[in-house]
Amino acid sequence: MEKIKQKINELLSNMSIREKIGQCIMIEPFFLLSKLTKENNESYIDLVDPKFLDKMLNEYHIGFFLFGGVSSLGNDSAEEWTNYLKQMNEYAKTTRLKIPLLFGADAVHGVNFVKGSTIFSHNLGVTSTWNTDLAKSYASIVSKELAAIGLNCNFAPTIDVARDQRWGRVYESLGEDPYLASKMSEALVLGMQSNPHVAACGKHYLGYGESSNGMDRTPANLSERSILETHLPPFEAAIKAGVKTIMVNGGDVNGTPMPASKDLLTGVLRKKLGFKGITLSDWEDVNRLYKRHHIVQSSEEAILKAFNAGLDVNMAVSDLSSVDIMEKLVAENKITIKRLNEACANVLRVKFELGLFERDDFDITKAIELCGNLESKNLAKQVALESITLLKNKNNILPIDKKIKSILLTGKTANSKRHLCGGWTLGWDSAKEEDLNFPTILEALKEKVPNAEITYVPDIQALKALNVSNNHFDLCISVVGEEPHSEWVGDTPDLAVEKGEINLLMSAFKTKIPVVMVSILGRPLNVAWANDNLAAILWAYYPATEGANSIADVLFGDYNPSGKTPITFPKSGNQVPIVYNARKYNSPEITTKYEPLYPFGYGLSYTNFEYSDLEISDEVSLGEDCFIKVKVKNIGNRVGAEVVQLYLEDKYASVTRPIKSLKGFTKINLLPNEEKTVELILTKKDLSFYNDKLQFVQEQREIEVSVANLTKTFQVK
Ligand code: GLC
Repeated sequence: MEKIKQKINELLSNMSIREKIGQCIMIEPFFLLSKLTKENNESYIDLVDPKFLDKMLNEYHIGFFLFGGVSSLGNDSAEEWTNYLKQMNEYAKTTRLKIPLLFGADAVHGVNFVKGSTIFSHNLGVTSTWNTDLAKSYASIVSKELAAIGLNCNFAPTIDVARDQRWGRVYESLGEDPYLASKMSEALVLGMQSNPHVAACGKHYLGYGESSNGMDRTPANLSERSILETHLPPFEAAIKAGVKTIMVNGGDVNGTPMPASKDLLTGVLRKKLGFKGITLSDWEDVNRLYKRHHIVQSSEEAILKAFNAGLDVNMAVSDLSSVDIMEKLVAENKITIKRLNEACANVLRVKFELGLFERDDFDITKAIELCGNLESKNLAKQVALESITLLKNKNNILPIDKKIKSILLTGKTANSKRHLCGGWTLGWDSAKEEDLNFPTILEALKEKVPNAEITYVPDIQALKALNVSNNHFDLCISVVGEEPHSEWVGDTPDLAVEKGEINLLMSAFKTKIPVVMVSILGRPLNVAWANDNLAAILWAYYPATEGANSIADVLFGDYNPSGKTPITFPKSGNQVPIVYNARKYNSPEITTKYEPLYPFGYGLSYTNFEYSDLEISDEVSLGEDCFIKVKVKNIGNRVGAEVVQLYLEDKYASVTRPIKSLKGFTKINLLPNEEKTVELILTKKDLSFYNDKLQFVQEQREIEVSVANLTKTFQVK
């Protein structure tokens, strides 16, 4: 590290003010080219026109480029992207100081901006596997593919804790629980940075998943306690895992937009958590301090406020003037040289750590070879399989017997690939169907049961025209989806399933054929009617490339579902927000009710697991770990995976505490009749909490531990 520090200082001593500022501005070349062409009447041949590159790299010294969700390059092949980034970096070598470039993009569920790449389940689905090793493996293979392309900064993982099911980005989050989110954050960051030439990005710091009305980017009112207990832990975990960049939530938290929050950007992130990497703003969020939040009256003041709050890089997108403005502010010493050097040093440190000064093997052959390769497909399959959550299975109607004769299959999503992927797929919101190449659910079912007659109807008109009473169907599989969306587009005030989808589902039900619902919903929507009336419900999140095959495997018993809900399923939009770990209040008349449709950590299996012999020490001294043992037996006739979850409840404490808190989990596979003893630890940290002075302490108190249906109490002495 000393060597890098020395190199940074040497470089800084050679850099002009403007060159330093250029390292702290992130430009989206596609947007910039369009703006210069349309607004400034400048003309360039293309993105790699030397005149255009000269403007960005020599006149403005830009050192960080992003390719947002809408960036599309030619046929979006791995070759095209690698070649382009290589040319950009080649040009950087002709600049005065030859500082290599950072390239950022949103590979948030696979290398989803490259056609043919394997698309994985989004984060909520990855989290529902409760399998951190699998999460790490998935992120590792994305890291490898990005490194070959030369995309060295991935704006992933999203590590937001989602506390309001109405939010359009719940599907990108790590669910509602800070402990599960922290474990997944650590795994995803380690995986995403497993290739030494790729920087991950923990986003969006912080509190983005709990705006006051659940809507995207709207103001949040968060107590210091909820910041410390709920929203900070995944970022602490990411920093401990060595995350190299953190993207800042553009929203206002307690009256201060995050990009302007010195307390949280410098006080907490740098001083309390010791983050040494780059803090970068989200899309034009510095200027939005002026344009949207109105906390300043000019773009100049916005830049001043953000950089003096501790932001290192302004995702200015197409606003080159931000370089000139910043140059003026530094000349006036409003942004000090010290602050500029700090921000620039953070950027250079990441570039040195990634080896970008030494390495530029943009490996086109490797990028093509890795794109959509079998290893990534197998991993995507495993993630999809382990994410699928069985929410209802009345009379064990599932798994379906492969000798079934006739199936009625309904829903447009059953014959769609883009609905299986959700947002951020070859585009900001939704891919074009023709750009995707993997099985649909209809195709996967035909392959799974080739002798069954599958009658497919995409909508209610086709169902009516079918005149079901004249045909015999053994079963109806009704696939319910939602239009792929991103960010605020996905906000829902009432968690309503799309009208056409629910109407078709109800019509399918009216046929009196038993209905199994397969929901391709990225997040919980109101499926209460389905739960009251249908025989079975599978939740597959956005299972993507290997999703259809995985759903077919689960439906027909070739895989025993093991997913567990990473977020509460409310009964309806009226229950929102509803989380399992709300602080408790108990009285005969009033309690902190937690009566959702499906709780956090819930999921059925085709087998059953019996828990016994929960053992914990009767008392634990302050500062000691608490060791827990429990036996789990598979008492069914199918192999199955079980997520053993450890919760604790403070019977009393100096502050009100959650109804219960997840403090440990592990996933085990059990053969029929196999029994395993699972050992879990409650560490000193797990047994500590923020007291009334917000000090992170342990207190003597009685704690109840619960694992499945077993509970035991112990004393912290
Ligand atoms: C968007 C998103 C962020 C993404 C960025 C760049 O506004 O909020 O998650 O990384 O822009 O595409």
